[in-house]
Amino acid sequence: MKEQELQLILASALQAITDAKTLSELQQVRDTYLAKKGQVNQLMGNLKVLPPAERSSYGKAVNDLKMALISAFDQAQIVLEAAALNEKLTSEKIDITLPGYVHQAGAKNPFFTIQDELCAIFLGLGYTIAEGPEIESDHFNFELLNIPQDHPARDMQDSFYIDENTLLRTHTSPVQAHVMQNADGQPIKVVCPGKVYRRDDDDATHSHQFGQLEGLLIDEGIHLGHLYATLQLFVQAMFGEKREIRFRSSYFPFTEPSVEVDVSCANCGGKGCSMCKGSGWIEILGGGMVHPNVLKMSGYDPDKMSGFAFGIGLERVAMLRYGIDDIRKFYQNDVRFIHQFNKR
Ligand code: DAH
Repeated sequence: MKEQELQLILASALQAITDAKTLSELQQVRDTYLAKKGQVNQLMGNLKVLPPAERSSYGKAVNDLKMALISAFDQAQIVLEAAALNEKLTSEKIDITLPGYVHQAGAKNPFFTIQDELCAIFLGLGYTIAEGPEIESDHFNFELLNIPQDHPARDMQDSFYIDENTLLRTHTSPVQAHVMQNADGQPIKVVCPGKVYRRDDDDATHSHQFGQLEGLLIDEGIHLGHLYATLQLFVQAMFGEKREIRFRSSYFPFTEPSVEVDVSCANCGGKGCSMCKGSGWIEILGGGMVHPNVLKMSGYDPDKMSGFAFGIGLERVAMLRYGIDDIRKFYQNDVRFIHQFNKR
């Protein structure tokens, strides 16, 4: 086999390598030339039939051809591998600039925002927080609050009974009795937030379920002036420095004297508008001096200790604070309503 022929084989092999467009095509070409039974080994086989004098130079020439081919294959392999990787990367490319899925965050119901704010105000005044059961006995819900069986005040709180002596509490006032009975005649300063239930019409201002915050302070020498100052502080913290309060006399079986408390209208500043129905004042809570019977029934000597109590409607405060016109909105779970109170 002549040197020239080897050159021709090399040339056509190099051409085939250049023509291979994929790694598998390249492998086929490689097999044609370099596999066990490939062309290069066949050329080597010719050695046997050559005269000994020519063998060495022929062998070297075939070997050179083989080396040249291996190096050309390796080069081509690198190029094709890089191209294959590139194509894979391009075809699998992910567009990370697409916006992700937006998960809508929940928002706090303004009922709880107000409950927390109220608690914070009273914690700031040195009160602690007490909670009581929502399923209450007749004894705590009524009797210990000076509302005996046949008392007409029971009518106003007609409620959900579980059995004759057990009901969903109609107010947070029974927590007063629980706290007093556990206080061993010692001074008390608590607020008690929670849900209460009454059989009631459900309309813009009534709901069968609503929230209250009860307040109770007992110590020596407590009088109505302390209640006035405390509520004035609360109202200013909640509704602004300019708000004032006024007491109107009222009646609750568990307080004597009893008062209804109004706040000056934030809308008109007291001049009278549609929000305050022309009076300049808006009623926000009830309170009074703890009735001596109530003190006695829960272990306090009314001649030594006295106290004040009050009950605030949570939705009422929230409605005034945010200008909400319908109590039912607190309970409808409409995110469009709830989300309005997200940012404050
Ligand atoms: N328990 C009363 C109610 O639900 C509110 C109330 C009034 C609570 C006067 C009090 C109070 O502690 O002194 O209507």
